[in-house]
Amino acid sequence: MKKILFVSSEAHPFIKTGGLGDVAGSLPKALAELGQEVRLILPNYKAIKTFGELHFLSSLRVDNMSVNIFETQLPDSNVKVWLIDQPEYFGLAGNPYLDEAGNDWSNNAERFALFCRITVEIAMDRAHLNWRADIVHCNDWQTGLVPALLSFEQNRPASVFTIHNLAYQGLFPANKFYSLNLPGRLWYPDGVEFHGMLSFIKGGLVYADRITTVSHTYAQEIQTPELGYNLDGLLTYRNNSLFGIINGIDTDQWNPATDNYIAEHYDVNSIDKKAVNKASLQQRLGLPVDDSIPVFGLISRLVEQKGIDLLLDYLPELFAMPVQFALLGSGDHAFENQLQALAAAYPEKLSVTIGYNEGLAHSIEAGADIFLMPSRFEPCGMNQMYSQRYGTIPIVRQTGGLADTVQDALPETIANHTASGVVFNEANPGSLFEAIKRALLLYQNKDAWRKLQVQGMSKDFSWQQSAKQYLSLYEGI
Ligand code: ADP
Ligand code: GLC
Repeated sequence: MKKILFVSSEAHPFIKTGGLGDVAGSLPKALAELGQEVRLILPNYKAIKTFGELHFLSSLRVDNMSVNIFETQLPDSNVKVWLIDQPEYFGLAGNPYLDEAGNDWSNNAERFALFCRITVEIAMDRAHLNWRADIVHCNDWQTGLVPALLSFEQNRPASVFTIHNLAYQGLFPANKFYSLNLPGRLWYPDGVEFHGMLSFIKGGLVYADRITTVSHTYAQEIQTPELGYNLDGLLTYRNNSLFGIINGIDTDQWNPATDNYIAEHYDVNSIDKKAVNKASLQQRLGLPVDDSIPVFGLISRLVEQKGIDLLLDYLPELFAMPVQFALLGSGDHAFENQLQALAAAYPEKLSVTIGYNEGLAHSIEAGADIFLMPSRFEPCGMNQMYSQRYGTIPIVRQTGGLADTVQDALPETIANHTASGVVFNEANPGSLFEAIKRALLLYQNKDAWRKLQVQGMSKDFSWQQSAKQYLSLYEGI
């Protein structure tokens, strides 16, 4: 049995902005189910949702700041959650990374450096919690200083750093390094310095005992100049310690047979009932209720990574066909505005919901026929897995975790019951358009379509296998 401290800047259902929240809310649970003693540590943001009582556990001073630690429970698990409470840093309205106006918090370096320092104190059992970690599992740049700071400790726990997205690195001007009072021995090109900047993510990439990322393909891709962001050399140098482990999904929360957000429950033996969800989605979004029109869903952060622009180019052309689109997302204002303008011009074809809406996300997964993920790159991606589980055929670009979790529908893969989606190669609007046309043709072939649905709904996307892989990784350190 290992004592695992799982460190994340977000975790569902407390707070979530993307897939990291999904993973941090479900992997700790899966590890606990394998008999491990897991603690999840999160900042106590103002926006956090809590379930039941918060218990005060202890307080400590770090960097001249007083911090309280509260305890709660990850719902439906025996994972204890430790919330790091520092109102000046975490007590304002906004999301974990952005203030209410949508700008990066100006003190992000200070906020997450403090979070990292507290994590180290807890891991080393210096926070009066009478608990010492064997493994500290860190996630993304916000936690990158943890392995770096732990490297100075005697008898320290082992550290694992998981890359969920190498594009976000936590880069700050060099003077932050000094104002944060970090140990001088970290300030080297083979430490946390990155071309004269302070790089939080390098704290993880250089100092963690093991590095993981969230799919096999992405583990290869980040070792190339194309997706390595100038860190490919470092990652290649560390590739004996770098592993790709595909994410699992929370199969309780994303289950069409029990999902409380959706209009009608269904499973692989009652796929026809999906039509009720389609009608309910069309009605909710003000689209003509018509079962014969294929509905495309998309739920995403609206940023360049996700290939929204590839879709925007061809939407008006697509609207000449009998199709409907249900889009949900938020992000770059330029994308938001373009999408809203199109929705105003084609109200019978396109519904755009700007914002974050958990319930609508589930309804789109259940009600859409086809799900779009034309990502330029995608470390893992969660929605293509949710889609397959909901009998909604994903169209994905062949990159990262999308390539590892969706099998393209070709005559032979349909015949041998492995096909579960439509995969295209090039990140350009024409290739996406071709893939959409291919999906529309398949949609006309009820037999083939049902095969794809059955295959997707029968796949095992649970954490079972991947949690075991993390466990053997921990055991091997
Ligand atoms: P990323 O983490 O890069 O944003 P993922 O596919 O890994 O992409 O995970 C995104 C997660 O966030 C999914 O669970 C998705 O349903 C959810 N999500 C994204 N945007 C929204 C939104 N506007 N409303 C509700 N859920 C959203
Ligand atoms: C990141 C990636 C996404 C991945 C998620 C969870 O946000 O962009 O592809 O699924 O992390 O690992």
